[in-house]
Amino acid sequence: MGPRDRQKKEAARAALGEVPKGCWLGVGTGSTTNHFIRLLPKRWVRGAVASSVATAQALKRRGIRVVPMMPARRLAVYVDGADEADSGLRLIKGGGGALTREKIVATASRRFICIADGSKLVKRLGRHPVPLEVVPMAREQVAARVRKLGGRPVWRKGFVTDNGGEILDVHGLRITDPAGLEKKLEAIPGVVCAGIFGKRKADLLLLGMPAGVRRVRAGSKTR
Ligand code: A5P
Repeated sequence: MGPRDRQKKEAARAALGEVPKGCWLGVGTGSTTNHFIRLLPKRWVRGAVASSVATAQALKRRGIRVVPMMPARRLAVYVDGADEADSGLRLIKGGGGALTREKIVATASRRFICIADGSKLVKRLGRHPVPLEVVPMAREQVAARVRKLGGRPVWRKGFVTDNGGEILDVHGLRITDPAGLEKKLEAIPGVVCAGIFGKRKADLLLLGMPAGVRRVRAGSKTR
C-alpha cells in the first residue's frame, strides 16, 4: 500500500468514530470509501443506503444490510470521499461517476463526513475538472452551454452511469462561488447533476496526512 492509500485508510478509520451504533448509514463510492467499508464492523449499523451499484455490492460482500433510499433525515451519517475539498468543506465529486446518487444520499443525511487523503485539500476548487452527469441526447447542447460559461467539456467516452447517464468532465472553470456555479450548471436542461457540492457541503472533513488525521470543520484554519 502506497502512502496516499495509507492516508485514505487512516481517514476512513477515523470516520468510524463518527458513526453511531445502530444507525442508518449512507455510504459513498470510491477507493477511500472502500477502505471504510472494509473497516466497518459487520453489525455496527442497522443498514446502509449505497450511492452506487458498486458500493451496494461491496457492502453486501461485507455482510452489511443494504436498504433502499429512505426519507430525508432518517440517515444519521453519510460517509464519502471527494476529488477536491476546500477549507469551507465544499467539494468536487464524481471522479468515479457516482455523483448524482452521492448528492441524493448526502442531501438526505443529517451529517456528511468526507474522508480523503491530504492531497485533496485545495485553496480554491477547480484543479480537478467538474463532472456533470447528463442525459445522453442533451450532451452536445450541454457542452455548448458549458463553453459559454468558460469551461472545456470533455466527454467521458464509453462510460455510462448507474442511472444510464453520460459524464462530461468540465475543465478550466473559475470557481469563485461554488454554490452559485453549481446552481447555474444544474439549471442547464439535460444536466442531471453537477459534481460541485457547494450547497450540500461536508460537515466534517477527515484528511489523512503523513503525521495523522486532520479534522477540518467549516471555519477552521488550514495551513
Ligand atoms: C465517486 O463518484 C466520487 O465522487 C468519489 O467519491 C471521489 O472520486 C473520490 O474517490 P477516491 O476515494 O477513489 O479518491
